Amino acid sequence: MSDESPKVLISEDDILRRVDELAAQISADYADKGEIVLLGVLKGAFILLADLSRRLTVPRSIEFIAVSSYKDGSVPSGAVRLVMDVRRSIEGKHVLVVEDIVDTGHTLRYLIDMLESRGPASIRTCVLLHKEHSTEVDLDIDYLGFNIGDEWVVGYGLDYAEQGRTLPYIGVIEPH
Ligand code: PRP
Repeated sequence: MSDESPKVLISEDDILRRVDELAAQISADYADKGEIVLLGVLKGAFILLADLSRRLTVPRSIEFIAVSSYKDGSVPSGAVRLVMDVRRSIEGKHVLVVEDIVDTGHTLRYLIDMLESRGPASIRTCVLLHKEHSTEVDLDIDYLGFNIGDEWVVGYGLDYAEQGRTLPYIGVIEPH
């Protein structure tokens, strides 16, 4: 990424306003359900998870999971590998998967299928950005921040070659 700051696609204020709204909606929906397990998908979701979790008014615990998609063409498109699993069982728990972005959708599809096989009480998804025209699989996003086009975005947890994750806003870059 060049030294030039990426062009703003979604400002910090707009992101935080939307996170407030999502947290209020989630808190209302889970009000009588007991604890939610917030399951952040590393690395990209770490900032959304931090901001969202602190705005909820319902009991919650935090888990992380890490997956890696093969983007080098070595295996068929869409293959996903589990790199780090959760530390505690999710059996009987209400799980909210927190993701920074859904692009092709293969990562979230893989995660939902894998987590469902473990017998949670429920699974829902909270995603900041959805490239809806790039998504290749059938997916329901329960709590969505913003739909975006097919652009390279960085910031608020998202990277390009590990750069740009800590920008406070969502910016657009031209990859080289
Ligand atoms: C990004 C993002 C999602 C996934 C979405 O992760 O955080 O997990 O890609 O892509 P998909 O919908 O096409 O499957 P990435 O592999 O870049 O890893 P990172 O979160 O560690 O940056």
